[in-house]
Amino acid sequence: MKFFVDTADINEIKELASTGLLDGVTTNPSLILKSGKSFIPLIEEICAVVSGPVSAEVASTDYETMWKEADKLRQIADHVAVKVPLTPDGLKVCKRLSDEGTMVNVTLCFSAAQAILAAKAGAAFISPFIGRLDDVGSDGLTLIQDIVGIYGNYPDFQTEVLVASIRNPMHIVESAKIGADVVTCPPSVIKQLYGHPLTDKGLAAFVEDWKKTGQSIL
Ligand code: G3P
Repeated sequence: MKFFVDTADINEIKELASTGLLDGVTTNPSLILKSGKSFIPLIEEICAVVSGPVSAEVASTDYETMWKEADKLRQIADHVAVKVPLTPDGLKVCKRLSDEGTMVNVTLCFSAAQAILAAKAGAAFISPFIGRLDDVGSDGLTLIQDIVGIYGNYPDFQTEVLVASIRNPMHIVESAKIGADVVTCPPSVIKQLYGHPLTDKGLAAFVEDWKKTGQSIL
C-alpha cells in the first residue's frame, strides 16, 4: 500500500519525507488556500522534495481552460499527476492527458459508476472521498470495496484506487484490508498511526530497566 500525504504544507511534507515512508503528495484548491502560498512555485517546491506522484488540481471546470491549465501543470515535472474533477469535461481532459502519457488523478468520486468512467478514461488514480460519504450518513469504505472489486474484474483497468478524505487510522487499516492501492492522509492521521498506549508504557519500562543495569551500548 502506498502512502500519500494530503497537504500543501511544505514543512509537513519535508518532515514526512524524511521518514522514508512517503510515496507521494495530493493537494487541492482548499489546501492551497490554507497554505497561503503561490500555487505553481509551491508545486515546484513539493516536486523537489518528493519523487513520487504529486497531485496538482486544475481550477477551471470547462474543457478548454482545464486543458490549458493541465498542460501548464504537467510541465512542472514528470511526476506531477494532474488532478481533474469527475465531470464529463474533466474526464475528457483525463482521456487526452492519459493518451499522451500524463498521470491523472480523478477527484471528487462518490460512486462506483463514476470510478468505472475514470478507469475507462485512463486515469492513473481514482480518488473516492470516503470521509465526506461518512459525513452524510453513507459508508465510504463500502465504496472502496466496490471499486477495488470492480477494477479487479478487469485487468485492463490500470487505475489505482487512491482512498481520499481520510479521517482516522481505521480508514487506513480497513482500506488496506480491502486492498486499496493508495491512501492519502492528512499529516495528523499519519502521525496517529504510530501511537499505541502499550507501546508508550512498554518503552518507558524498558528505558527504566536499562538504566538500572548501569550498562551502555555505545
Ligand atoms: O484531497 C482530497 C480529499 O482528501 C479531501 O479531504 O478532508 O477535505 O474531505 P477532506
